[in-house]
Amino acid sequence: MERTLIIVKPDAFEKGATGKIIDRFIEEGFTLRALKLFRFTEEKARQFYIVHKERPFYGELVEFMTSGPVVAAVLEGENAIQRVRDIIGPTDSEEARKTAPNSIRALFGTDKGKNAIHASDSPESASYEIPFIFSSLEITD
Ligand code: RTP
Ligand code: MG
Repeated sequence: MERTLIIVKPDAFEKGATGKIIDRFIEEGFTLRALKLFRFTEEKARQFYIVHKERPFYGELVEFMTSGPVVAAVLEGENAIQRVRDIIGPTDSEEARKTAPNSIRALFGTDKGKNAIHASDSPESASYEIPFIFSSLEITD
């Protein structure tokens, strides 16, 4: 069993898509281990996405992620990291609508920046991101 972190981004939260997105993962067979509504401070968003600090879109990404509330969850399942990445679809929602029309980014995202959802992309990123957002008391066994 593997755990991964997802974050419903401010665009999808604002659209009211949070419930549909969480439900999709439950229907796909994942177990919900943790769930939280919060708003990133600029400092926390910068730290969370620190791997992108040299990228040209870093400032825009931090601005977007702090623009409103988000909902984070820990999902558990076999091969959860890769399977969740497959369900969310490619980074660019416009591309997702062409190549993965049933993906979460195709259904709820707008473009490459405002793309509805984050998901850990490797075991290394999951082990950084899960404890970044949740304390051990907030995750069920
Ligand atoms: P995420 O980390 O949020 O799950 O997304 P990802 O792995 O599919 O994409 P990544 O390359 O890690 O980029 C992180 C987020 O930065 C924004 N972005 N904007 N304007 C742009 O060219 C651009 N590229 C990336 C997106 O919000 C992307 O999800
Ligand atoms: Mg990423």
